[in-house]
Amino acid sequence: MNLGELARIARAMVVKNKGILAADESTSTIKKRFDSIKLDSTEEHRRSYREMLFSAPGAADYISGVILFDETLRQKAKDGTAFPDLLTRKGIIPGIKVDTGAKPLAGFKGETITEGLDGLRERLVEYYKLGARFAKWRAVIDIGDGIPSSFAIAANAHALARYAALCQENDIVPIVEPEVLMDGGHSIDRCEEVTSAVLQTVFDQLAAHRIYLEGMVLKPNMIIAGKKAANRAGPEQVAEATVRVLKRHVPPAVPGIAFLSGGQSSAEATLHLSLMNKNPLPWALTFSYGRALQDDALKAWAGQAANFSAGQKEMAKRAKLNSLATTGSYSSSMESQAA
Ligand code: 13P
Repeated sequence: MNLGELARIARAMVVKNKGILAADESTSTIKKRFDSIKLDSTEEHRRSYREMLFSAPGAADYISGVILFDETLRQKAKDGTAFPDLLTRKGIIPGIKVDTGAKPLAGFKGETITEGLDGLRERLVEYYKLGARFAKWRAVIDIGDGIPSSFAIAANAHALARYAALCQENDIVPIVEPEVLMDGGHSIDRCEEVTSAVLQTVFDQLAAHRIYLEGMVLKPNMIIAGKKAANRAGPEQVAEATVRVLKRHVPPAVPGIAFLSGGQSSAEATLHLSLMNKNPLPWALTFSYGRALQDDALKAWAGQAANFSAGQKEMAKRAKLNSLATTGSYSSSMESQAA
């Protein structure tokens, strides 16, 4: 385990003005995204969509790292360059999703446990050889009637910490992602209560598993009301509650926090990040968005080769606006301006 290297990579992932592109949709998730543009999810369509995103002109100025799915880590650009090499040459760090998904937690109706620990050490050794320098594991916590249970929170936090330890053993920076979903009708206060409990348990487990905090990145949800809530909190309230919770539970030894977008609109996710970055903070606060970086690009591309550069423009535009949000310099009026 090379502590200096882990800390260097973690800092580079959250470096000023940059954030992470989450392009690690599993085969079943990318199929849902392609369904929305009526495109078959073939291996070649998945490959060319990812090539469009990764080679978007200008994007490297705003993107520090890209999270890949196993299939993508092994694919090549049209000119034969392996995707991890294409990214590395642009100064973008390749990362890899290593969990195998959230499965029903036996005995706990409506709750899940994320799987993927068996054989993980061996997979990490291979991923490192293929060029990955960081990894991601996503735990999923749903809010509903009587859930989450403290048992499900503890089980998921334990798995996250075991994953993080294996990553660091293999010189791979773990992105630790405990996602409290924004599905459902819960209030922002309920999201705050649950997220606080989750983050506290996660950092207790990370300490118990002897995780080197300087060599990891946290990927949390923002504190936000459920999508079906009658009372949607305003952007200032979201930013304020999120910063409050993070300050209470995330040690300043962690170099950076990179949010998921979780179903927020692209503009909402950018605005919330920018508002938070108007405060002095003990860690870098940036983005690790999937949908909030890709939605516009996916629509503009629509699976047509002729729209390749139109899709790239949309991707670069969102990356640039989110980059501005990392210094608190984004404003909603920029949405209508050209990329
Ligand atoms: P979203 O930003 O679309 O939530 O995706 C981020 C991610 O990587 C979820 O694991």
